[in-house]
Amino acid sequence: MSGLEFVVNGAACGVALEDPRVTLLDLLRDRLGLTGAKKGCDRGQCGACTVLVNGARVNACLTLAVALQGAEVTTVEGLSEGGNLHPMQQAFLDHDALQCGFCTPGQILSAIGLMNEGESGDDVARVREGMSGNLCRCGAQPGIVAAVQEVLQ
Ligand code: FES
Repeated sequence: MSGLEFVVNGAACGVALEDPRVTLLDLLRDRLGLTGAKKGCDRGQCGACTVLVNGARVNACLTLAVALQGAEVTTVEGLSEGGNLHPMQQAFLDHDALQCGFCTPGQILSAIGLMNEGESGDDVARVREGMSGNLCRCGAQPGIVAAVQEVLQ
């Protein structure tokens, strides 16, 4: 058994890891009760599990929790401040960028990761490519791209 000390949504968190193979996604959902990150494919293909680790987007289903000693993890639950939505969350609402909502947390975290990478929203093709790891089966992509472009401007 090993202990993991890291920061989740700004709060220090310590957990005992009985199994070193547990993924960040399972740790967040099953142990910490943070169910915003979704388990879609569980194999790195859909992006529904996207969270930020030290500001960079990762697929939580492919990330071993044990590798996150000292890291800062941000999930969708940690985005709003003082009752105000993060600008990316607000843009998704404003552009009607969701339908069923299953992929939305991952889409939003991925978009914030894209912003952290310094991407601008000027080039729609680059925004589409940047968001291509996050699938939406409802067909909300036009609204998603518009929302991301607005915030990245
Ligand atoms: Fe992680 Fe699909 S659940 S990429």
